[in-house]
Amino acid sequence: MTAHGKPDSSPYNLDGSSLKLKNGQLDGMVLKTLANKEVVKLPLIASLLDNGKARITIDEERRQKGDIELRHNSIARKERYNEAAAWALTGAGLQPQKDAKLSNSNGRSEITWGPKSEYRLVLSHSPFVVEFYTGEDKQVVLNSRGFMNVEHWRPKIDKPSGDENETEPRDVQPQEDESTWWEETFNGNTDSKPRGPESVAMDISFPGYGHVYGLAEHTGSLSLKETRGGDGNHDQPYRLYNSDVFEYELDSPMTLYGSVPFMQAHRKDSTVGVFWLNGAETWVDITKDKHSTLGFGSGVVDTNTHWMSESGQLDLFVMLDATPKSLSKTFGELTGYTALPPTFGIAYHQCRWNYVSDEDVKDVDRKFDKSNIPYDVIWLDLEYTDDKKYFTWDDMTFPDPIGMEQQLEASERKLVIIIDPHIKNKAGYQVVEELKSKDLGIKNKDGNIFDGWCWPGSSHWIDAFNPAARTWWKSLFPYDKFKGTLKNVWIWNDMNEPSVFNGPEITMPKDNIHHGNWEHRDVHNINGMTFHNATYHALIERKKGEILRPFILTRSFYAGSQRSAAMWTGDNQASWGHLAASIPMILNQGVAGFPFAGADIGGFFGNPSKDLQTRWYQAGAFYPFMRAHAHIDTRRREPYLLGEPYTGIMAQAMRLRYALLPAWYTAFHEASTDGYPIVRSQYYVHPEDEKGFAIDDQLYVGSTGLLAKPVVTEGAESVEVYLADDENYFDYFDYTVYNGAGKSHHVAAPLEKIPLLMQGGHIIPRKDRPRKSSGLMKWDPYTLVLVLDKQGEAEGTLYVDDGETFEYQQGAYIHRRFKLTDGKLSSEDIGTKGAKTAAYLKTMRDVRVEKIIVVNAPSSWESKAEVPVSGGAAAELIYHAAEGKKAAWAVVRNPGVGVGTDWVVDFGAAAERNVRTEL
Ligand code: NOJ
Repeated sequence: MTAHGKPDSSPYNLDGSSLKLKNGQLDGMVLKTLANKEVVKLPLIASLLDNGKARITIDEERRQKGDIELRHNSIARKERYNEAAAWALTGAGLQPQKDAKLSNSNGRSEITWGPKSEYRLVLSHSPFVVEFYTGEDKQVVLNSRGFMNVEHWRPKIDKPSGDENETEPRDVQPQEDESTWWEETFNGNTDSKPRGPESVAMDISFPGYGHVYGLAEHTGSLSLKETRGGDGNHDQPYRLYNSDVFEYELDSPMTLYGSVPFMQAHRKDSTVGVFWLNGAETWVDITKDKHSTLGFGSGVVDTNTHWMSESGQLDLFVMLDATPKSLSKTFGELTGYTALPPTFGIAYHQCRWNYVSDEDVKDVDRKFDKSNIPYDVIWLDLEYTDDKKYFTWDDMTFPDPIGMEQQLEASERKLVIIIDPHIKNKAGYQVVEELKSKDLGIKNKDGNIFDGWCWPGSSHWIDAFNPAARTWWKSLFPYDKFKGTLKNVWIWNDMNEPSVFNGPEITMPKDNIHHGNWEHRDVHNINGMTFHNATYHALIERKKGEILRPFILTRSFYAGSQRSAAMWTGDNQASWGHLAASIPMILNQGVAGFPFAGADIGGFFGNPSKDLQTRWYQAGAFYPFMRAHAHIDTRRREPYLLGEPYTGIMAQAMRLRYALLPAWYTAFHEASTDGYPIVRSQYYVHPEDEKGFAIDDQLYVGSTGLLAKPVVTEGAESVEVYLADDENYFDYFDYTVYNGAGKSHHVAAPLEKIPLLMQGGHIIPRKDRPRKSSGLMKWDPYTLVLVLDKQGEAEGTLYVDDGETFEYQQGAYIHRRFKLTDGKLSSEDIGTKGAKTAAYLKTMRDVRVEKIIVVNAPSSWESKAEVPVSGGAAAELIYHAAEGKKAAWAVVRNPGVGVGTDWVVDFGAAAERNVRTEL
């Protein structure tokens, strides 16, 4: 028990007689007893769900029934906000487990559930404490420190003048300062708080768990820090309140643009998760208790957390008995998996604020080609519009958008343009006229359309919580409505926190009103997601019959955003510190279930040195979303401008990204079906290796065994790469071998080199022919890189589809497992057939594997000149002997096998194995 809580004086008790368990759902009443003995009723629902999940919801009876009075003639709803689930959850994974059983004894109630009754929920009645167990193992505890709080409704009692802080009757904490309970003024903005205090809070403890991860979006270490001061710790809680933060601080619990109130607690043998389903401003305090077991050593660490939200229900999911991977899957089932992006979305994007004219765009496009640098997408920031009016073009600077888009299309390239949620308030601008006449804008507290200041000056905001607003939004995107757009145009939704330049904390007043009369305070963190979701649905319906997977980039996000957008980390700076910070931030997006993430390559503010920009491209080649971007005041920095050796080195990094697109796409497919992060952290890949739990500066690409450690410090000539296991790791470029578990290894990293290793045991798919864009690589042949493990074996998967439509949902895809075992490499189908499988395979008939590279090939292969291929002739094998620390390798050229068919390449009997393990 820590010193902070007051568990015994918690005023919350569970009424034992109220408990009823039916079909996996427990209903009951928590009672809050005030100092004046008044009792407040808080209805409790505990749902026992599959895969070791449970959901606890606590509401407030009086507000639930609408039996309260609002102040200031407010039109706001009276209930606690109860629609967060409708936005964040998919509806899957919520089936209560009917086998749950309840027993009561001595002021405690216990529910067991799960296929082997292995999960237990123990509710202590007085005070109210909830413990979650897997078998005998206590995993998660609620309110053991007595921080549970549900601010019940009460009328404001006006005090006699001169006695400002006195109200009667009082509840449990007579010393509390009420000055901000009923109204709060901040920087000249007054929040009217018509429902008075209504916050919810709970302490959640993880006994025996030394590390917690999650709570995107923040800068700082992946393993979250303690927040109550002390050496290296934060001295404030992590805050979640989506904001347009200007020049954000590094290593800080300050809030950023998006929020995912999900946390994983991890220890050597177990992982558990907590999802706090609330869309209001939220704070999370973290402390750790170190204590010894039976007096031996420093042993066990407990992590204690304390979650507080300004309003809404207390609604939380606890997920037991997991690994990091299974937890991603469970959380993904609840909140949705990553939308499978079109292929161009995971290639390289070239952005700046701004490309100033259509001629400028065409010129940049030509210069990339002239410099032989691949790119897929060029972006237009605000200045393409006529006076910041979205859905228009500045016809002085962009007189011919169609011509520009056609030039891009000729190389299968795309254009992404910015559209923000603020709509310029200008008479005659059709979009705002429609917004107003149809009454689809967010309202102020008095019920009139809210007017605030953003890029266009005076603006209104679309209320995407309103289904009618979303339907209207769809009507703005068809090609005949949004003139100047072709089907290679996609959308960037920025400023959707929402950013309001003259609002409190650069956002909307909390007492603004949304559809359904919910206050903005209740939905603030969800708001950005409703907007990019609306854009997603609008883009799907641009033209009847044309069903392309939309690409949308969002700045603000909530749990569930992964279903329709990619994100980036906003306005970073051209500094080494910001480059370094991008790695844990992007890894953390994987924990959050929203892994399609990137940071502005080169840094948004400021001008990067050539070294920094070059290193940033190398790191960016390992962001799931790879986009360069720059502020309007910065110098031009397209990669071809830097000169040699920088341009050449950046081009190499980009070509590496393009060569590995098949591996990246396969990782995205995993994210889209199982919720796994696209780039994965050390603890995620090696959950049993304690030494790696705090490592957050190296990353693995999907399940490929590729391990990158981007250089993020100025002048570095080498990095230390930590290896958790005993397997051989090979340098990606020259096959130098590294091995030795549980320690760091020195890897040379002169400017031209990206430290990139391949873990033994994997097969990595690639495409090695350099092209202008990913679209032009569609029919290119594959290379398979077999990286042998110590047993001489390797395995990997490949997912391929048309990269642009939804036909994969009807089986139009190839999903293969490649396996080298007993000297035989086989390709096996692991997909499920659908109506469109056969037709798709026909289109892919001529796409072949043109090369097989075997890293750490046995020396007995030296004498082999060819290898037999099933269903075909033998293929030539060329063997390269080991040299110094560099492993031997072999290459088989033109084995003549299709990427979508079954085949076997026979390298010879397993007995011939002679794999180098000691170097
Ligand atoms: C803020 C965004 O974070 C930035 O990327 C963009 O360039 C500016 N808005 C202008 O649209």
